[in-house]
Amino acid sequence: MNPALETLALAFREYCNPPGRTLFLGAEPHPDIHDVTACQPLKPLADKCMSAGMEICTELDGKFQTVLFLPGKSKDEILAGFARAHELLEPDGKLIVALANTAGASRFEKELSKATPLLFSVSKNKCRAFSVSNSEPWGEELLENWHELSKSRQIPGTDFTVEPGVFSSHHIDPGSALLAEHLPPSLRGRVADLGAGWGYLSKVALGKSPKISQMDLFEADSRALACAKKNVTGSATFHWHDVTKGLPEKYDHIITNPPFHTGQAKDTDLGKAFLTTAAASLKRGGTLHIVANRQLPYETHLESLGLRSRLIVETGAYKVIVSS
Ligand SMILES: C[S@@+](CC[C@H](N)C(=O)[O-])C[C@H]1O[C@@H](n2cnc3c(N)ncnc32)[C@H](O)[C@@H]1O
Repeated sequence: MNPALETLALAFREYCNPPGRTLFLGAEPHPDIHDVTACQPLKPLADKCMSAGMEICTELDGKFQTVLFLPGKSKDEILAGFARAHELLEPDGKLIVALANTAGASRFEKELSKATPLLFSVSKNKCRAFSVSNSEPWGEELLENWHELSKSRQIPGTDFTVEPGVFSSHHIDPGSALLAEHLPPSLRGRVADLGAGWGYLSKVALGKSPKISQMDLFEADSRALACAKKNVTGSATFHWHDVTKGLPEKYDHIITNPPFHTGQAKDTDLGKAFLTTAAASLKRGGTLHIVANRQLPYETHLESLGLRSRLIVETGAYKVIVSS
C-alpha cells in the first residue's frame, strides 16, 4: 500500500474523530477511510476506489469539515490543491495533507504553514502528514498565487492548453516531438493514441495525415483528457481509460509515447503493458509508432508479441520505432 496513504489514514484516525463531512482529494482506498466524497483523476486509481465501494465525484457541492489531500508529484498541483482545499473547507474545517519525504513533505509543510499555522504534523513510513485549520484566516497573497497555479495555461509558442499536474505541462515533451516529426503522412483509417496526454501527438497526426478517418485518444488522467478535448478538434473521440486493460476495438495504426520513469522497474512494466495492449489491438497489416528512451528494451518485448520492429531514428536520448 502507498505509505503516504498509510500515514494519512493514521492522522485521520488520530485527529479527526468525528471527521464530519469529508472530501478526499487524490483518493485511494484504505480500510480506515470511508464515507468520504472521493476525487481521483487517474483511472487506474479511480477503478481501485470504485472496486472498494467508493464513489468517484466529478462535481463538488457544498463545504467540508475535513479535506484529505494525497497529491501527485507536481509542485503546481500541490500548491493549487492547498488553495482548492481552502475554498472547500467549512469555516472551522481541517485540511490534512500527506506526502512522502522524498516528494518534498517538509518543504510543502513549510509552504502551507506560511499561509496559516500548523495544527499538527505526523512522521511515519518515511512520509509526513500535516494539517492546518480554517479557523484562522489564510494569507491572502499566498492563496491568490496558489489559485493562479490552478489555471489552465498555454504551452509557449503554441495554442495547446494544459493544466498543472498533467504530463509535460510546461513544454512539448522532446520524445513526443521526435515521434511527431517522424510520423508519416500516410496514416489512414482508425488510429489510436495510447497515453494521449493533452493531445499533442493526436493533433499532429491528424494534421499530417488527412486520410485518418477517426482518432481515438486513450488517457488515464482525466485532467489531461479535458485539455485534449480543447486541443484536438475534428474526428476525435476521448476515452478516460486504463490502457493496460486493453482496448475495445482494433486499429489501422497506433501511436504512443508510453509512460515510464528511468530506474524504476515497475515503470518499465507499465510501458511494456502499453505495448502488449497495442500489439493486441492492431488490425492485420497495421503499424505501431513508438517513441521511447533509447535504453528501454522494447524491441525484445515487441518481438515476444510477434511484432517486427524497425528503428526509424535515434538521438542521444530517444528512439522512434515502427512495429508491424
Ligand atoms: C509519456 S506521456 C505521453 C503523453 C502525450 N502522448 C504526449 O506526447 O505529450 C504518457 C501518458 O500516459 C498516461 N498514462 C499513464 N498510465 C496510463 C494508463 N494506465 N492508461 C492510460 N494512460 C496512462 C499518462 O497520464 C501520460 O499522459
